[in-house]
Amino acid sequence: FLLFQSGISEKEMPHDDEQAGLKDQIVIHFSHVVAENTPKGLTAQKFADLVEDKTDGRIKVLVYPNSIMYSDGEELDALKNNEVQMIAPSFSKLQKLEVLDLPFLFRNDEHVRSVFTGPVGKKLLQRVQTSHIKPMALWSNGFKQVTHNKKHLVSPADFKNERIRIQPSSLIQMQYEELGAQPVPISFNDVYQSLEANRIDGQENTVSNFYSKRFYKLQKYMTISNHGILGYAVLMNGSVWKKLSPHDQSILSAAMEEATQWNVQQSQKMNSSQLQELQNSGEMSFYRLSVKQKDDWKKAFKEVYDQAEREIEADLIHAIKVAEN
Ligand code: LMR
Repeated sequence: FLLFQSGISEKEMPHDDEQAGLKDQIVIHFSHVVAENTPKGLTAQKFADLVEDKTDGRIKVLVYPNSIMYSDGEELDALKNNEVQMIAPSFSKLQKLEVLDLPFLFRNDEHVRSVFTGPVGKKLLQRVQTSHIKPMALWSNGFKQVTHNKKHLVSPADFKNERIRIQPSSLIQMQYEELGAQPVPISFNDVYQSLEANRIDGQENTVSNFYSKRFYKLQKYMTISNHGILGYAVLMNGSVWKKLSPHDQSILSAAMEEATQWNVQQSQKMNSSQLQELQNSGEMSFYRLSVKQKDDWKKAFKEVYDQAEREIEADLIHAIKVAEN
């Protein structure tokens, strides 16, 4: 395991004019918490393949899915300590991007794409830049749905006292508190067990995360609410980035751009085909919120918006809302 954690050392760094060869090999370890067959898992692998192609194998990106290397709570420190060189935590795990957790902020996947790949996305990425962290891109998983083990969560009243697993985000926590629920922050790799042990009644996530981790075995009621999005900031260790030659930096940036363009289309397709599969399986019951029911949720979230506008930045929220799609 230690071998995997070795990262890039000074002597492994190539010079600009050196020919590719074994001594020039650069290995970048990329750790994430979800399954391989998800928008994040597939985009990470796509990025790795593009880098390998563009450098004839001189730069290798090795992807470790399913929290096999680090779980949610550990991966940011591991990145800063260069125990791993790339991670892609969800916004909800990075306080500086919590604005993206606001409910009903995005109209559709195209709107997400235009924010993530446009000027607003650049601004958002700058918020997470530090001397230890080089932000590379924003990736999307898609829209979140809520599920429960015994009933459909339709009106705000249905949430009363329900224990709902959330990611560690104060903004998401506030949303569930406004609905009268009991939000329970739990690391992604512990969700299945927590459902099984009946420590929680429900959870919110994208269809893709729900499907790939088989939450459908334990959660039989899904409300198609599309109330929020799940996405990621792709981050690289800052000093590893700085030590790369300008040529290698531009290769990684180009590969990242290509992978990112692919990501939004991919996430949309995956979530809808996996939803279709779940619907065909007959394992679960589905309920789609009407416009009127969404309005009831929006009313319940009014204080969340008011507080975010006071505490985050009304300008940023506005810039996201008006981005063209
Ligand atoms: C979650 O904790 O539910 C997600 O952030 C997992 C992920 O990385 O998609």
